[in-house]
Amino acid sequence: MAEVTRHIGLSLGADLCWPLCFEQMIKRLDLRIPWQGDTLRFDVERVTIEPFELRQACKYDVVVDRLTHWYHTSREWIKKCIVLNDLYVFNNPWSVQANEKHTSYCAMMRLGMPIPQTWMLPPRSYEPTPDLKATLTRYAKLFDLKKVGDEVGWPFFLKPYDGGGWRGVTRVADEKAAWRAYEDSGTSVLHAQASVEGFDLFVRCIGFGPQTRCVLYDPSAPLHDRYTMKTGFMPAGDEEHLRKLTLTINAFFGWEFNSCEALRKNNVWVPIDFANPCPDSQVTSLHFHFPWLVKAYLRWTIFCAATKRKMRRTLDWEPFYAVAGEDLSYEEKLDRYAKIAEERLETARFEEFCKQHLGHLDAVAFEFFASPEAKEAVRLKVAALFPEHEIERFTGLFWNRIQDWRRQGCP
Ligand SMILES: Nc1ncnc2c1ncn2[C@@H]1O[C@H](COP(=O)(O)OP(=O)(O)O)[C@@H](O)[C@H]1O
Ligand SMILES: [Mg+2]
Repeated sequence: MAEVTRHIGLSLGADLCWPLCFEQMIKRLDLRIPWQGDTLRFDVERVTIEPFELRQACKYDVVVDRLTHWYHTSREWIKKCIVLNDLYVFNNPWSVQANEKHTSYCAMMRLGMPIPQTWMLPPRSYEPTPDLKATLTRYAKLFDLKKVGDEVGWPFFLKPYDGGGWRGVTRVADEKAAWRAYEDSGTSVLHAQASVEGFDLFVRCIGFGPQTRCVLYDPSAPLHDRYTMKTGFMPAGDEEHLRKLTLTINAFFGWEFNSCEALRKNNVWVPIDFANPCPDSQVTSLHFHFPWLVKAYLRWTIFCAATKRKMRRTLDWEPFYAVAGEDLSYEEKLDRYAKIAEERLETARFEEFCKQHLGHLDAVAFEFFASPEAKEAVRLKVAALFPEHEIERFTGLFWNRIQDWRRQGCP
């Protein structure tokens, strides 16, 4: 039996806390996985940024990528490695680049999801380009924002079609506010979207491979309190529904690590923001839920690296369209979409793998998240984000929430 090493690369930006925990925990797991006659060991290293030759080999089996959406050299290195070297990466980078929030709305409308009515608006202003004047003079029609508002209903949300990080999002209640927000919107191509008023639950469902976690979200709280610590706040049926929504979206777009925001109104779940590949992973926003996320990172990374699961280089939408075209209720369709997703994400095989080879992960996490190394990871992230005089207080706050998670039996 040969000892074989699987190489995991972490492609990182400002991340501090979860990679430190990931590295420490994989050490503590001390894996020796019997696999097809060999024993698998795992090596983790951080990917560096440097010139590369297009035909050069790639030493990694899996890269956990946090840069594709904004750092182009790393994005292009990753694309080269997928195309030329059979690298496995979470979140298909072509899909991250090409499919904005806008396309995700359109696609999920087509699958029958109750997305609020949404209009697209040309931007208020433009970067100068040679043909701009001719184009706009000939073809751009003056439009009345009030008419759009009357169509979608008041109040509505004006927000960039490509979204992200709450940038430029305004809820407008009347014509004057709508024009003011539009005047201030610069070069953003916008959506005007009907506001879901009077919802009783706001949930962010994180999907990581076939793993999902629903977090009750409070958009009005300060950043460090938005992910609430509530558990068991909705019936199992709602949780199951949100899992199906999230896995459907994620499988459709090849985003294995993504989150879906949905609002429940009159017992209907309305998805409003679900193009968030590679969502926030920081302890400073996730706190209580942070250990779950670190475990989710570990399980899916180890599974993909160990099994050499093949990355889907292209998206295949047709099976979803086929279901969408059938004469079925929304719930029946969602069941069928979710089945396709669970197959693509190999849920059954993944769960079996975790049971067989990662049985000690929960105990390792329980112990690790009480260790000085874990506390230091929290402190480093806090120190990077908070002013000097708040470092101690917030380190304590987030650390206590992690200890709450331990005390509550690691939900
Ligand atoms: N249609 C909507 N109905 C109700 N609230 C909305 C709607 N769209 C956006 N919001 C609110 O605005 C926030 C930011 O909008 P979102 O689409 O999530 O943008 P981002 O991509 O920047 O996160 C949401 O978290 C929610 O609180
Ligand atoms: Mg959002």
